[in-house]
Amino acid sequence: MTRIVAISGSRRAGSTTRSALRVALTAAEEAGADTELIDLGAVDLPLYHPDEDVQGDSEELTRTVREADGVIAGSPVYRGSYSSTFKNFHDFCGSEEYDYTAVGLLATAGGGSYGGTLEHLRSTFRNVHAWVVPHEVGISGASRAIDEDGRFRDDDLRDRTEKLGRIVVEHAERLQE
Ligand SMILES: Cc1cc2nc3c(=O)[nH]c(=O)nc-3n(C[C@H](O)[C@H](O)[C@H](O)COP(=O)(O)O)c2cc1C
Repeated sequence: MTRIVAISGSRRAGSTTRSALRVALTAAEEAGADTELIDLGAVDLPLYHPDEDVQGDSEELTRTVREADGVIAGSPVYRGSYSSTFKNFHDFCGSEEYDYTAVGLLATAGGGSYGGTLEHLRSTFRNVHAWVVPHEVGISGASRAIDEDGRFRDDDLRDRTEKLGRIVVEHAERLQE
């Protein structure tokens, strides 16, 4: 079965990024995939150290990504880029994890601009040989766009996020052929 893993790059308890990723994962599951969420706010992952082979949960987390056929990566916009939490996770994973992996991108912003975050994610995923799909989701005013129960207030944004989940499954299946 096609395995899709979502990675949430926020450490906030009420993270809108994580809520949006759950919507994308549900759509991926409905498209027939086996799914899992890595919540980087809930794992033990110290700051990457190049002299250490294994740190905290790194072995299990990198294995989870290596075994995935598709990844949905989500980050809050931090200073016009993606979060340090996501970058730290990125430093643990290379082309061994992402080769022939379809990747979909999602960014949540407090304001209106998420373009830089999606571009920086796209170029750094390309660096590790991931197959980043063209469809992407940017959510501006995220605290207003997603309610306290983690539901989208806007149908178009929800549809776009569900589509991201389905497209990652579709491309992950193609890459396995
Ligand atoms: C350190 C920090 C930097 C931020 N920088 C930006 C920014 O440059 N642009 C913006 O629109 N929002 C910025 N925000 C707001 C977050 O992008 C926004 O609150 C996002 O929805 C948080 O995602 P989360 O709910 O998953 O934690 C920043 C927030 C923090 C904590």
